[in-house]
Amino acid sequence: MTVLNDLVRPDRYPRSSRYDPAWLLDLDMGPNPLWLLEDLAQNLDLRPGMRVLDLGSGKGATSVFLAREYGAEVVAADWWIAPEDAAAVFAEAGVGDQVRAVRAEAHALPFEEESFDAIVSVDAFEYFGTADGYLPYLARFLRPGGQLGMATPAMTREVRQLGEIPRHIKAVVGWEAIAWHTAEWWRFHWEITELVEVTSARLQPDAWQDWLLWAQAGAGHQPGSRSANEAVIDMLTADGGEFLSFALVTARKS
Ligand SMILES: C[S@@+](CC[C@H](N)C(=O)[O-])C[C@H]1O[C@@H](n2cnc3c(N)ncnc32)[C@H](O)[C@@H]1O
Repeated sequence: MTVLNDLVRPDRYPRSSRYDPAWLLDLDMGPNPLWLLEDLAQNLDLRPGMRVLDLGSGKGATSVFLAREYGAEVVAADWWIAPEDAAAVFAEAGVGDQVRAVRAEAHALPFEEESFDAIVSVDAFEYFGTADGYLPYLARFLRPGGQLGMATPAMTREVRQLGEIPRHIKAVVGWEAIAWHTAEWWRFHWEITELVEVTSARLQPDAWQDWLLWAQAGAGHQPGSRSANEAVIDMLTADGGEFLSFALVTARKS
């Protein structure tokens, strides 16, 4: 059985391991967002005072991390979660003066052009970011030289190449998996625009095991989410890393 202590892994995730796993599980909306962000941030240059947009910030864990770990001034933009609820998380975490919560739809962002030094998005881009015109739209909000970092569920091979969504994945997420592109798909899709230079595009090693560990902990921590987590556990166990991963992609605005 996964216990909360199993989630503290300073050898692999030193920064994330400083956060209370119970706190993070209370904000849970999918895989562990801090593990993904900590890994993603290795390919970014985040510095104190930078204006960072956390796009699809959910209940706010990644925004807290960006503020605390990198000293960023964060705008936490999300569609489903009420900004008042996210703001309460930021105040409680002691970063209320560094993080502003905003209700925003990813295609109608209420910001000035070139107003961010970096845009970060963890486990959200798959919902809104795969259309051909999305990167060009989003890049408008970055200053020249600004950075983009995105972590999203991914497949080791394109669904198009496989000719179908593998059965164990389709059983849990249905057609949504067609948005789970490979890292190389993202690299090409962004780079071809010539609006950004892709600085890294990689699949996270053993992402499925991280996700499994987290889902097992979630099933034990929140009885209400047990069946959803059990479906994910079944999917990941059947997969064993054959198809499922996470893509970590970073770029710099040209
Ligand atoms: C799986 S949750 C992840 C939240 C958070 N990043 C995390 O990892 O805990 C996906 C988030 O994407 C946001 N989202 C989905 N579609 C969106 C859209 N069209 N515009 C803005 N946010 C969107 C949802 O509001 C949701 O909070």
